[in-house]
Amino acid sequence: MGITMAKGKAAVVFFCQECGYESSKWMGQCPGCRQWNTFVEESAALPAKGKGASSRSLAERPEPIALSEVSLDEEDRLTTRIRELDRVLGGGLVRGSLTLVGGDPGIGKSTLLLQVCRMLAGDGREVLYVSGEESLKQIKLRATRIGEFNAHLKLFCETGLDAIEEVIRRKKPDVVVIDSIQTMYSDQISSAPGSVSQVREATGVLLQLAKGLNISVFIVGHVTKEGTVAGPRVLEHMVDTVLYFEGDRHASYRILRSVKNRFGSTNEIGVFEMASEGLREVANPSEFMLSGKPEHASGSIVVCSMEGTRPMLIEIQALVCHSSFGIPRRQTTGTDFNRVNLLIAVLEKRLGIQMGSCDAYVNLAGGIKIQEPAIDLGIVMALVSSFKNKCIDDRMIAVGEVGLSGEVRGVSMVQARVQEAKKLGFTTCIVPRAGMDVLKDISGIRVIGVGSVADAIDLL
Ligand code: TYD
Ligand code: MG
Repeated sequence: MGITMAKGKAAVVFFCQECGYESSKWMGQCPGCRQWNTFVEESAALPAKGKGASSRSLAERPEPIALSEVSLDEEDRLTTRIRELDRVLGGGLVRGSLTLVGGDPGIGKSTLLLQVCRMLAGDGREVLYVSGEESLKQIKLRATRIGEFNAHLKLFCETGLDAIEEVIRRKKPDVVVIDSIQTMYSDQISSAPGSVSQVREATGVLLQLAKGLNISVFIVGHVTKEGTVAGPRVLEHMVDTVLYFEGDRHASYRILRSVKNRFGSTNEIGVFEMASEGLREVANPSEFMLSGKPEHASGSIVVCSMEGTRPMLIEIQALVCHSSFGIPRRQTTGTDFNRVNLLIAVLEKRLGIQMGSCDAYVNLAGGIKIQEPAIDLGIVMALVSSFKNKCIDDRMIAVGEVGLSGEVRGVSMVQARVQEAKKLGFTTCIVPRAGMDVLKDISGIRVIGVGSVADAIDLL
């Protein structure tokens, strides 16, 4: 009896608004992401309106194809003429791809995509910029800061999915930008724009358009306070590429990071700087990150972290001082708090450096965030340098992962890191002894291999 009832009624489902978890009943806590009070009732997505395979005539039914007959067309990528973006995309924009650009409000997503539109339109591509957030005037205001636009770029202020679909089918542009997916609205679904089912429906329609008409589509997605695109991990599964635009609100640089890419490697980053005429590419991020580094200051050292295939020099600062409270304060910015605590424990146990009554602060300069363990050795050296109030040579960098026995373990791509240090005029490079034998052509920079933290501290 239950079954017949379910068939007769419009199905009601509850979605977690954080992660898209689907449930037939309301729950206080989401089993998917453990968030509280995130379930909202939405009607289940309707079946697609007659676009399924069953409605196709026999003649146009697609046939499977032999792998050997598939040709790799090199011309399938469009260059955006923004090198930092092209690299993050894996060498240009793939035709018929769906790219999600996520990021905090105000970080510069609309600016970046308007600049992409300008470049593509400049190359004679037909570009359609759909905005559900801003009026034509507001877009025009932003555009005048960026530069001249030609007539290949068309603006469309609309949130109705049907109208947008109709325009795309009629105009068949090469590239479409949807700003943002949270404002798009389909009449087929009763829930509010931005809810899981709306976002999912809109993305589904755009996916069909992208693949069916071979249009490259950019989707802008806002990020929740937890740092995921609102409404969805489901959304991340549907698109080909996921890019996150991040950066410190108070710093001018912005990092575009690919976290999923069906057409290239992930973890690539592009570095931009927000200027008065839009986003400017930063070709040499190391130089940018090190600007303003103090000279002859204790507790400061430069490390090299790999961001994808790209080495980046970053200054680590540590401040260790006597604690005036019973429980010493530990604080980190830009790096993992627990990792720093662990490294302090290694220093105490393996080297007998007693920081138990000291406050310790560790900061990655410039507001950047790094999780890579290769900066461990730098953190340790900065801590000891501050503790002993001894300066580290300004022209020295350190890379290496620190293990619990105080050993310095090998890291990947030592060669690239040493080269980057050399390029920026550093004269000494401390690397794990384990990785030294792969190094070649390192004239012009002194490379010192260390096996343990104690070896490295001796160099101070
Ligand atoms: P925007 O692209 O509107 O962000 P999003 O679409 O991610 O919400 O970015 C707007 C911010 O960038 C805003 O604070 C103003 C600043 N900005 C500049 O500093 N220079 C510029 O040339 C432009 C266009 C914006
Ligand atoms: Mg915007």
